[in-house]
Amino acid sequence: MKLTWAINAAALSLLCASTASAQFAFPNQPAQVGQSGAALAPLPPPMNPPPMNPPPTNPAPAQPPITNPPASGLGSALPGLTADQLAAFNAGNVDFQKVETPASGLGPFFNDASCVACHRAPAPGGITGDPNRLVTRFGRTTNGQFDAMTELGGSLLQNRSIDPRFLETVPASATITAQRLTTPVFGLGLIEAIPDAAIQANASATKPDGVHGRAAVVFDVASGVNRVGRFGWKAQQATILAFSGDAYLNEVGITNRLFTTENAPNGDLAKLAQANTRVTIQGLQDQPDPATGLSKIDRVTAFMRFLAPPPAPTLSNSATAGQAIFTQIGCAVCHTPSMQTGPSPVAALSQKPVRLYSDLLLHDMGTLNDGIAQGAATGREMKTAPLWGLRSRPLWLHDGRARTIVDAIVAHDGEGAPSKNRFRNLNATQRQQLLDFLNAI
Ligand code: HEC
Ligand code: HEC
Repeated sequence: MKLTWAINAAALSLLCASTASAQFAFPNQPAQVGQSGAALAPLPPPMNPPPMNPPPTNPAPAQPPITNPPASGLGSALPGLTADQLAAFNAGNVDFQKVETPASGLGPFFNDASCVACHRAPAPGGITGDPNRLVTRFGRTTNGQFDAMTELGGSLLQNRSIDPRFLETVPASATITAQRLTTPVFGLGLIEAIPDAAIQANASATKPDGVHGRAAVVFDVASGVNRVGRFGWKAQQATILAFSGDAYLNEVGITNRLFTTENAPNGDLAKLAQANTRVTIQGLQDQPDPATGLSKIDRVTAFMRFLAPPPAPTLSNSATAGQAIFTQIGCAVCHTPSMQTGPSPVAALSQKPVRLYSDLLLHDMGTLNDGIAQGAATGREMKTAPLWGLRSRPLWLHDGRARTIVDAIVAHDGEGAPSKNRFRNLNATQRQQLLDFLNAI
């Protein structure tokens, strides 16, 4: 733990110190934009899909451009950041929204051209607003074990290409195909700052209803040590930096110091070599900015680390009654209302409550699983989804199958079945109170 914190602290102080001279010191307050004269031009809408694509399997409609981060609410920075941290947040926001092209390293095989293409609703950092804009994972069962079919390009499908001659597809031999909905990145710095030991303590606590819960210990490529995973539907990554490196390579096709090798379409290296001739930057594509020493993965990490959590709710009388029901029927056994960050060199993240409504543990969810083993999670296990910000989502559950919050609750199975059954037995008033609570947090 000590070692990990030392590494994180060093990385953070490097980040915070070096961004003082960041070349993108965009103002956060919309008022300052006009004053400084250096107005931030609205970013162009993400090209979705980019023009050189063959017909994608799930095209997204044209989307409106996203403007500057608001001063408060979803998409704004954490309160209490220093000026340097705020500058780092703003610089990272620019990268997060940047539409990459083959000239900047996009592809050759990828899922979208910017982070915000999938993380956009209702503000940058959110989820996809489009039920058809999910990502696909595939695999098969070999000798009773999940096989990610890495030699055939699994488990994540890249369904777009800058070279119309080649496209990755789900191999015919795959027996498991799963869709994944984007998870929002609001408040991620707070979740990252929860000590591993606090999550492990959740795992060893005695729980009712036959609920267990397992901490997902994974190798963290950012720090080089094993950590408790907490990000993604399977808790497959422990740090924001590792997730950023993974996303740049696997969603956008940009190689970086943590993920250095381009994906070959269905594992075909000859096709990769041919498609690669259309990429301008050969070798490592995410190079550090000489002025700051920071790469894209560092900058978007700062953006997500310093992104505010969903605003704290004000509970109506009905929602307050619903809060009690949430606990009574056993939801809070997994959806732990609040955890606490440990000491952090970033004051805004240090010793803070995190009202995330998750224990960050893996649970056997019975039929609500996706069969994909990932990180420490088996095919049957899913991480308890944080419920903060639930109200601002158009879709729920890992594959977006739920179009209402009630749909999401009644799909709970396995360790979640007893509390789901109690939900079914609530009368109409109690059910409404619970929903009022869930819609407030
Ligand atoms: C094609 C769509 C797509 C693109 C592009 C994309 N993401 Fe994501 N993102 C997802 C999906 C889907 C998940 C959920 C992953 C999972 O667990 O299966 C996710 C999850 C995440 C998470 C984890 C959040 C949490 O708490 O669970 C982070 C961090 C993240 N993305 C960062 C990024 C960054 C940075 C970029 C740009 C480099 C990016 N993403 C680009 C679809 C996308
Ligand atoms: C055994 C642990 C457990 C219990 C108990 C539990 N949940 Fe969940 N919950 C989960 C997991 C795991 C997920 C993620 C499911 C998935 O992968 O789609 C989830 C997802 C959700 C979601 C969707 C979140 C999203 O981001 O899409 C909602 C809403 C939800 N739970 C509400 C409830 C309510 C209300 C109760 C009580 C009736 C409850 N849960 C009880 C583990 C639990």
